[in-house]
Parts: sequence; C-alpha cells; structure tokens
Amino acid sequence: MKKRLNDFHNAFLSEIEAALTPEQVRDIEIKYLGKKSDIHLMLKNIGTIENPDEKREMGKIINSTRNEIQKIIEEKREIVEKKSIERKISENHMDWSMPVFSADEGSLHPVTIVQREVESILTGMGFSIVDGPEMETEYYNFEALNIPKFHPARDMQDTFHLVNNMIMRTHTSNCQSRSMEKMKPPLKIIAPGKCFRYEALDASHETAFYQIEGLLVDENINISNLIAVMKILLSEIFRRDVKVRLRPGYFPFVEPGFELDINCLICGGAGCRTCKNSGWLELMPCGMVHPNVLRYGNIDPEKYNGFAFGLGLTRLVMMRYGIADIRLLNGGDLRFLKQFR
Ligand code: PHE
Repeated sequence: MKKRLNDFHNAFLSEIEAALTPEQVRDIEIKYLGKKSDIHLMLKNIGTIENPDEKREMGKIINSTRNEIQKIIEEKREIVEKKSIERKISENHMDWSMPVFSADEGSLHPVTIVQREVESILTGMGFSIVDGPEMETEYYNFEALNIPKFHPARDMQDTFHLVNNMIMRTHTSNCQSRSMEKMKPPLKIIAPGKCFRYEALDASHETAFYQIEGLLVDENINISNLIAVMKILLSEIFRRDVKVRLRPGYFPFVEPGFELDINCLICGGAGCRTCKNSGWLELMPCGMVHPNVLRYGNIDPEKYNGFAFGLGLTRLVMMRYGIADIRLLNGGDLRFLKQFR
C-alpha cells in the first residue's frame, strides 16, 4: 500500500507541475482528492489492515499525503489564477478588475442654485418661466418700457451699445415688453437672466450680473397683491418670516414705483454694518405696471393692470452665501466654485 501511495503522490506531482490553467487544476483536484480518487479508496481500505500499528501508521501517512496534496493544489491554483488574469489583461489591454476612480465631479454655480430655488417657488405660485435675448433692440429694452429716446432715465442704466445698433440688455425688463406682445392677460411670468451694464468694477459692481424679472397682468390687481407675493417669495427664500417695507422709487415703467426693503436678517433690524445701521436692506425694485407699458403691449389699461418686480439675483446670492466681492461670481476660480458642492 505504501508503494501504491508513493506512485500516486509522484503521479500527482508531475501532473500538477504541468498544469497551466485553473480548469486543469480543478480536474487534478477531482482526480487526486475526489470521491473516486485512489487515495479515497486507500483510506476506505485501511479497515482491512489487521495489524493495529500498521493500520495507524498507514492512516497517518495517507492523511498527511492528502493534506500535502491539498496544500500544493491551493498554491498552484493561486498562481494559475493570477496568470490567467494577467493573460486576459494583456489580451484585452484593459483591466476590468481595477478599482474605479470617480472623476472630479462638477457642481452647480451658486447663481444657478439660487435661480432654480426662486424659479421653483414662483412656478409653485403659478408663474411660468420665459426667456429673452441678451442682445436686444433699444425698443424692447427702453421704448416699450416708457423710456423714450433722449429721456434722462436712460442715464440710470449705463448701456453697452453695439456696432450693429443693438444694445446688451441692461435689465430683464425687456421680457416684460416681449411677453405682453406675445401673450394675452391673465399673464404671470418670470424671466431669469444675465444683464449688462458699463460699470467700473469693484466689490459690488460687475458688467454682467443676474436678475429675475416678474410680471403679473390681470384684472383688479392692486398693491396688496404685489406685497403679498413679495412677502411669500422672500419668506420662502430666507426660510423665515421677513418684514418688508416699501419706499417710493422711480422707474419709468411702473407707477407707482417702489424700492422694497427687507428687515436686515443679520441684525434683525437693530442696525449693523451690512444694513449701514438702518435696519433695512434694499432688495427688490417693483411697482404697478405703467399704463403706457400696457399700451405698448397692446393691452387695454382701462381693463387690465398689474405689477412687476426686478429681483437682483446676483445680490441675493451674495446675501445668501455671505459673498463679499461680486467679482468672485464671474471669476471662474475653482477654489471658490468648489465650495458649492
Ligand atoms: N428693471 C429695473 C432695474 O433693473 C428693476 C425693476 C423691475 C423695477 C421691475 C421695477 C419693476 O433697475
């Protein structure tokens, strides 16, 4: 039996040595350690050995041979599996088992984040979003908004004039005139977008900035409707109840026109640096749509009226995130932008 075991062991060694693939190793394992293997039979036959010493010794030898074979098979398996993966990699030029490194993820610009929030609040109140051109005619930017040529109010908005006789829109109010022309009342629109003014750059002035225009035209609209919508909008934006106040403000396309202030959220109205000790922050110009503007939009001012507001989106973003310098917003500095992930 010893000789038989020895031959068995040697046959195993030469076969395992020659094995190259995981499949071959598995076949060898079945052949040499499986239920039908010689070693299994030998172990079964031990019972027929009469001499107890011999019986014990054979049992020991067979078991240790079996353990050794098992160990060699495991070692070999590891080697051929690794080789087989390497072979697949070199055949495919691609290592599917490599861990995935996620790409450097981008993020939304802070203006986009706040714009979407405001859009969602106002669309929730029934406003629809419209878009208007950034390169605009003087007609839609000024004339149709009750600012005739040579009217001094044009000086309020330093304008970029283009060689093709058009201008860069100075406000999103061009969407007021454009929407009235296209749609009939009741009209409830907002128009977010970029505006351009010929400004000297500093911490609070940029040549390109964002506004969200709002316009509502219907029958029997009054100032309390305007205040209610503004209050709801601002309370949602700042996630708390905000106090507002109206001061007279001059914009040729509204009558009466207002500057809407909110109670300073930093000091709660007591007075601080941000609100220049007044307790109030100027946030949103607004007013009741001027009858002339309705006429330009082919809407009968005897029947309809409405209100309009111009939310300074860029200003709002700066307040929301405590950004002290407006130039950071258009600067494209990744160290700044990555903070809004
Ligand atoms: N368009 C005005 C501006 O940019 C703001 C405004 C909008 C005022 C709507 C009143 C009503 O200065």
